[in-house]
Amino acid sequence: MSRGLVFDNVVCGYGDTMVVRGVSGKVEPGRVLGVLGRNGVGKSTLLRALAGFVPLAQGQVRWNGSELGGLAAHKRLKAGVAYTPQDNVVFGELSVQDNLWLHLPDRRGDRYAECLRQFPRIGERLRQRAGALSGGERKLLSFVRTLGLAAPLTLIDEPSEGVQPENIARMADLIRQRRSAGAAFVVVEQNLSFLEEIADQVLVLDRGECVLAGDFRALGRERLESHLVV
Ligand SMILES: Nc1ncnc2c1ncn2[C@@H]1O[C@H](COP(=O)(O)OP(=O)(O)O)[C@@H](O)[C@H]1O
Ligand SMILES: [Mg+2]
Repeated sequence: MSRGLVFDNVVCGYGDTMVVRGVSGKVEPGRVLGVLGRNGVGKSTLLRALAGFVPLAQGQVRWNGSELGGLAAHKRLKAGVAYTPQDNVVFGELSVQDNLWLHLPDRRGDRYAECLRQFPRIGERLRQRAGALSGGERKLLSFVRTLGLAAPLTLIDEPSEGVQPENIARMADLIRQRRSAGAAFVVVEQNLSFLEEIADQVLVLDRGECVLAGDFRALGRERLESHLVV
């Protein structure tokens, strides 16, 4: 049995349009896979497919040896897979605290203590409406919510988008801490400096296909950068 996440020849999309066309990859426990690529190339769609929100037209997704393909999105968390989408990540009418606690079956809010220490802006505003947060703060809130789950596998879609540099550095710290505790991550990003801080492996998408994959450092920043310029 192979440990970690393995996806093989994933084909998926919307209606008859396949926007991800035959993408494969893997991430082992204690490793971070970065997914790079310009806007509109299918990064979010690939992540949605791994999370179970977009059905696979072809291919396989296995987590610690078991097939995830047929498992509904809401059941994947129980299987150890947490997911944060790129947009609409916060319930604006609820308090910051309720946004954090809502989905915890055990209501153990203390699991957020470590994350909230890193992001005092969020900790100070637990009783405020989440809708009053700025775009970047909402991104932080959904990051905290996901990291607090301490899932063995976390899928995150552009966590650093709109977030201030010092908080991006703290996000990287938290991911590195979890990685050294054995957690695996798939992180979609366009911020190469952030990815450089955390990613072991990288996969570059272009028009729904993988055009480059391998060890982040071996591939080198320059080569990866050339795939991001329009
Ligand atoms: N919900 C959707 N319904 C139909 N088409 C979509 C939907 N979401 C994204 N797409 C299309 O799929 C393609 C890939 O989008 P996306 O996966 O969001 O790319 P990225 O995350 O790399 O910017 C784009 O052409 C986009 O317009
Ligand atoms: Mg996207």
